[in-house]
Amino acid sequence: MRRAAVLGTGSCLPERALTNAELERMVETSDEWITARTGIRTRRIAGPDEQNYQLAAQAARRALEAAGVTPDELGLIIVATISPHMLMPSCACFVQAELGAAKAFAFDLNAACSGFLYGLDVAGKYVAAGPNMKVLVIGSETLSARVDWEDRNTCILFGDGAGACVVGSAEGRGIIDSCLLSDGSLWNLLYMDSPASTNPDLLDPKSKGCVIQMSGRDVFKYAVRAMEDVVRQLLERQQLAVQDLSLIIPHQANIRILDNLAERLGASPEQIFCNVDKYGNTSAASIPIALDEAVREGRLHRGGKLLLCSFGGGFTWGSMLLDW
Ligand code: ACO
Repeated sequence: MRRAAVLGTGSCLPERALTNAELERMVETSDEWITARTGIRTRRIAGPDEQNYQLAAQAARRALEAAGVTPDELGLIIVATISPHMLMPSCACFVQAELGAAKAFAFDLNAACSGFLYGLDVAGKYVAAGPNMKVLVIGSETLSARVDWEDRNTCILFGDGAGACVVGSAEGRGIIDSCLLSDGSLWNLLYMDSPASTNPDLLDPKSKGCVIQMSGRDVFKYAVRAMEDVVRQLLERQQLAVQDLSLIIPHQANIRILDNLAERLGASPEQIFCNVDKYGNTSAASIPIALDEAVREGRLHRGGKLLLCSFGGGFTWGSMLLDW
């Protein structure tokens, strides 16, 4: 049976690593506090030659190489992002131009930290509809430009980076099922202002601009419950147990969310992939970066069952099951 499958993965991280020790000199915090509450030790910060679309294009080149696919074969490019360097044109159009993928149409997708999962689901459906279709799905963020560096509640959490995968039709493996959800009524627990609006109430003159605002405790609570629920829904539908999964790659928000999720699901530490210590929360980029690392570290084998799950602003959340 042919399915939409990940044919190759790639990632690209900015060179500069920002340590907790450096953050201690920027806001009132400590390495001990950050490590204990989040598990994050460093995060990457993009330089002037590492714009969102440039990181995205580099991750894409690596994914194309791994898949043995040329840019000319691509029919669609989706970039999941909440931090494009321009609102228009889309980051995806810049990536298309960088790659010279002349036959592809391209668009950005905003579902915050769930963006990559949503994008992969859309890609899967295009491939199912046209088996010759090849789709590039990228999660790419430069959140360092969207963080208030004087707000210790948020600036310690986020980082920059990009991850990509090429999706195409394959025999005997690929996407089995997915479950995607949203709840816009809780938008105010995690959001970013708009740079311009027809509603003057949204243009607060004291606003620090387009930066992330978050009610951390609430987000924590919802994130753990929602991800557990959406993973269980999918497993039940597929009549699988957590123990049947070779690897779970959750959105890398912070170690306590991942530990809580693992405990609630009854998953072993070896089943949960974690690299949040190195990169912090890279929103839409976190799952594809983690997926690429898992592939390159040999953590995924043909025939194994991979589960991806996410939670983010919106709220948006979801899970996806794949035969690797
Ligand atoms: N350094 C030192 N102290 C701090 C810092 C900091 N960087 N940030 C906050 N504090 C203080 C607070 O001011 C507060 O002090 P107070 O008691 O005097 O008021 C105290 O630490 C406790 O604050 P809480 O917000 O209650 O701390 P909590 O244990 O909830 O940890 C955290 C905060 C890490 C943000 C946690 O709530 C969390 O992980 N939330 C999830 C948020 C998240 O991951 N968001 C990412 C986006 S969504 C997603 O990706 C899923």
